Amino acid sequence: MRLTRVFTISTIVIAIAAMAYTAKAAPTYVGVNQCKMCHMKQYNVWKDTAHAKAFDVLKPADQAKPECVKCHVTGDNKALPGVQCEACHGPGSEYKSFAVMKNVKEAEAKGLDPKPVNVCVKCHNKNSPTFKGFDFKTMWPKIKH
Ligand code: HEC
Ligand code: HEC
Ligand code: HEC
Ligand code: HEC
Repeated sequence: MRLTRVFTISTIVIAIAAMAYTAKAAPTYVGVNQCKMCHMKQYNVWKDTAHAKAFDVLKPADQAKPECVKCHVTGDNKALPGVQCEACHGPGSEYKSFAVMKNVKEAEAKGLDPKPVNVCVKCHNKNSPTFKGFDFKTMWPKIKH
């Protein structure tokens, strides 16, 4: 009986702590221009890839369909067209400052994914109407930056 109550109380405490943590650590997408200023080299590679044009390849009618748009923009947000840096590296509001970025471990704690090799299949999968398979080893060299 007492054990059950202790269990229930600790579950509630953990749930509240988890909620507080999520509320505090919910970073938002800032857009490619915020990364460009410090990462010109990566930007110049990215801008010529299919990812930069991923929204433009949709026909106007399809640009109005949320079920198409979700994989052709960043963070499910049409204001951030194309597959931008943060679609792979994670939303940057908390890690984009120089003070945080210069320490990769700290940036990681604030939402940066420095090697997002497992993110690709969130979009490159059977839910894409044009999907013909995805192999990281052959696809990464096409967008390497
Ligand atoms: C104020 C300058 C600045 C801005 C803005 C900035 N970065 Fe950085 N970034 C750095 C510095 C400095 C480093 C660490 C030094 C280095 O290896 O280049 C770094 C490192 C990185 C790394 C490599 C981490 C590793 O493993 O070495 C990635 C990925 C990255 N940034 C992505 C981004 C993305 C995405 C954005 C936009 C949301 C962004 N950065 C915005 C300065 C910046
Ligand atoms: C699950 C993510 C996802 C969804 C949902 C999605 N796409 Fe795509 N789309 C992709 C990916 C990834 C590619 C790159 C090629 C591939 O692997 O399918 C792509 C490529 C394309 C292309 C590029 C040209 C081509 O034929 O390769 C067009 C056009 C396109 N999609 C249209 C659409 C339309 C229209 C919809 C909605 C009916 C849609 N997509 C929904 C992920 C998606
Ligand atoms: C389609 C996903 C994707 C997009 C979009 C993307 N990156 Fe990356 N990026 C990666 C992957 C994956 C790696 C790690 C590759 C590895 O280490 O093998 C990487 C590595 C990096 C690195 C580390 C490079 C190094 O030499 O260690 C930086 C910095 C970086 N990206 C910045 C950017 C910036 C800035 C943008 C936008 C202009 C961007 N990335 C867009 C997937 C992406
Ligand atoms: C947010 C969704 C999304 C993510 C994440 C994503 N992609 Fe894509 N990718 C697309 C879409 C959409 C296209 C088609 C764009 C177009 O045709 O203009 C595409 C196109 C490509 C292409 C060009 C198509 C071709 O066959 O030449 C390559 C290469 C590619 N992606 C590699 C990757 C790799 C590697 C990763 C992970 C590091 C990755 N993508 C992550 C959505 C995504």
